[in-house]
Amino acid sequence: MEVGFLCTMDLSCNRKIITTKDGSNSLLVPALNEQYHSIHGAKQEAEHVFLKMGLEDSSIQAHCNTNSISVFEVGFGTGLNALLSANWAILNNKKIEYTAIEKYPVSKEEFDQLNYGDLLGEVELYNQISNSKWEEFVTINDHFKVKKIALDLIADELPKGFDVVYFDAFAPNKQSKLWEVSVFEKIYSIMTSKGVLVTYCCQGQARRNMIEAGFKVEKVQGPPGKREMLRARKL
Ligand SMILES: C[S@@+](CC[C@H](N)C(=O)[O-])C[C@H]1O[C@@H](n2cnc3c(N)ncnc32)[C@H](O)[C@@H]1O
Repeated sequence: MEVGFLCTMDLSCNRKIITTKDGSNSLLVPALNEQYHSIHGAKQEAEHVFLKMGLEDSSIQAHCNTNSISVFEVGFGTGLNALLSANWAILNNKKIEYTAIEKYPVSKEEFDQLNYGDLLGEVELYNQISNSKWEEFVTINDHFKVKKIALDLIADELPKGFDVVYFDAFAPNKQSKLWEVSVFEKIYSIMTSKGVLVTYCCQGQARRNMIEAGFKVEKVQGPPGKREMLRARKL
């Protein structure tokens, strides 16, 4: 009884590894009855939402042609987005400084069961990122630095200066407090001008909350299995 109660508070409790339709793994959170990624394909979804619509956005590429791209992720979770971003930076000869916050870190046992390194042929890169020390920038290679920080998006002060935000919180119907105007105002304040926020979500209230926080928001093509997603720009 008590364990069950605690598990509704702690989203890291009894997580299970699942396999999505493109063969990549995800985690299922019993407390929310929600998984970390789309069941249509975790890897496909991440590549579309965060790389294609975020990192590769023309304003980011123009703005960050010579400098590092500064990425902020909510929350780090399995490290799939970090791995894909590191791989993208290597393949495209770019530099990324990647900061991710996380309230319910994935354990070493869980990381060891996730198949992202194998799928990309980048086992060593995934191990380096997932095992990297928390709370400080770790240089993974010439193209990618990562800093994982144990922070609560709502309660804690956030670092500043980000060009791209991967807003990868659980869905609004599961964690509504993470999608409120005050949260988007907080994120807006830590972004560089012309910065871009991307999320898989396309919910109307989330979109209106972003607009109220000051973002210019557009609906763009969604990942496989989803018609649309949101991209928000800081003016
Ligand atoms: C949909 S999952 C995505 C995780 C990750 N981006 C991935 O691809 O594995 C949402 C993530 O947000 C984290 N999270 C939930 N509430 C949070 C909070 N208040 N502050 C920071 N992170 C939070 C969860 O633990 C989880 O890792």
